[in-house]
Amino acid sequence: MNSQHKIKIWDISVRIFHWTTSGLISYQLFTGLSKEGPSDTHITIGYCVLGLVLFRMLWGFWGSITARFSSFLRSPSSVINYFIKNQRTKPTFGHNPLGGYAVAAMILSIVVQVTSGLFCDDDLMLSGAFSHLTSDGFTSAANLVHAINSKVLLALILIHLAAITWYQLVKKQNLIKPMVTGYSTDTKITPGRREVKEQPKRAFFLAAASALIVILLIYTQ
Ligand code: HEM
Ligand code: HEM
Repeated sequence: MNSQHKIKIWDISVRIFHWTTSGLISYQLFTGLSKEGPSDTHITIGYCVLGLVLFRMLWGFWGSITARFSSFLRSPSSVINYFIKNQRTKPTFGHNPLGGYAVAAMILSIVVQVTSGLFCDDDLMLSGAFSHLTSDGFTSAANLVHAINSKVLLALILIHLAAITWYQLVKKQNLIKPMVTGYSTDTKITPGRREVKEQPKRAFFLAAASALIVILLIYTQ
């Protein structure tokens, strides 16, 4: 039998990752795509986003149940069932089957953005940590990928915001509150469901490892 209660769906690591990344990426896009272009803070904030997304990748393997890629990257048939067989009326535990792929696309686009950034150089004052290691041709290609993917990322974010607004207005489902508090009152409790556990020691270790990797990347160049 299903019952509805307040249940935890997002751990604190996912929530901190979400709100810090969305703030920092908004800043990067806003300044990067402005008339003046990026300033030197772009590089510092870029490295912070690199650390955050590195942590999120690790958390996708060793984090709580709803944070794991294996729990939200489901088979194509789950996505079809979710749409065609009208299973979308049931709120899911964590990302829904289609939302999971949208989230993966955003994370992938962030990875492409920070990786290409490491090889970018504007020939004036901004350069990524690895730009001096590669040829001019490679740097131009990295600049191009960085510029094009910034627009892809922006489009994915706009779709993300439109989907959340649609859930709020049409389906009357508030997805934002759980991303702030961690708890949902819409999600059905089903037998055998695994709980979202915080695992603070593991989170701290993976966050420290991510920060250390970024610091080593920057300072060994
Ligand atoms: C630059 C802006 C943003 C980016 C890059 C972004 C990215 C993401 C990512 C990667 C996730 C998946 C979280 C995870 O599993 O780690 C997510 C989920 C989510 N985001 Fe954002 N986000 C942005 C802005 C926002 C804003 C402004 C809101 C609220 C108004 C929002 C609300 C949500 C919600 C509610 C979810 C959970 C969706 C669900 O229930 O499946 N996001 N976002
Ligand atoms: C998610 C994080 C990031 C976002 C959203 C972002 C966004 C942008 C945008 C929109 C531009 C202007 C592109 C154009 O139209 O010419 C830009 C330029 C640049 N970015 Fe990033 N960036 C990010 C991370 C990084 C990182 C990690 C680095 C390096 C460590 C970096 C280095 C650069 C450089 C050197 C330029 C100038 C390139 C040129 O003038 O062609 N960025 N970035």
